[in-house]
Amino acid sequence: MLLKVVVYAFAYLVGSIPTAYWYAKYFHGIDIRQHGSGNVGATNSLRVLGKKAGIIVLIFDLLKGLLPVLLARYLDFSEEQTFTVGIVAILGHIWSVFANFKGGKGIATSLGVILAVSPAGAGLSVAVFVAVVYFTRYVSLASMLAGLTFVFYYLFFNFDQTYMSLIAFGLFLLLVFTHRENIKRLAKGTESKISSKK
Ligand code: G3P
Repeated sequence: MLLKVVVYAFAYLVGSIPTAYWYAKYFHGIDIRQHGSGNVGATNSLRVLGKKAGIIVLIFDLLKGLLPVLLARYLDFSEEQTFTVGIVAILGHIWSVFANFKGGKGIATSLGVILAVSPAGAGLSVAVFVAVVYFTRYVSLASMLAGLTFVFYYLFFNFDQTYMSLIAFGLFLLLVFTHRENIKRLAKGTESKISSKK
């Protein structure tokens, strides 16, 4: 029991590391929350700081989700518990204890989590993400649809895993919640399309 509490606490703390915020602050001397979409994430780092920053933030944020899930699996947590450890890391990213509980939208960290939970499901989600970005240039829309794809992956290919499907659905709802401002902008046609000039 104590071990489980420690692993969940570890996942929250690792997830809380505000990569984009610290990278922008220490390497570029800016507060990323005051630039671009204001989001503390890989997409906004790409938008504001360029490709190198976007890739570095993406990799670190992804690892924040991947590593706690792998740790939980190594410690023989059940499959559902392993997934919820990842969800806690995502919650840490969104409500970071190191950034006044104002973190990012959880996409790169979610990618790390689903990669560890189900590489096949993650592959399908990434394929949808890439296709939607390619055709629309809206990362937010692609992110939400990728989250929904992971739910469908469980419903269609692993329909016996009810709890995993429910956790995947919970993750999708969480991502819709973190993208609520993006959804308003998408509806108004004012959402910015991704491009990097740097
Ligand atoms: O990485 C989160 C992405 O889905 C949207 O980010 O900065 O366009 O709000 P942003």
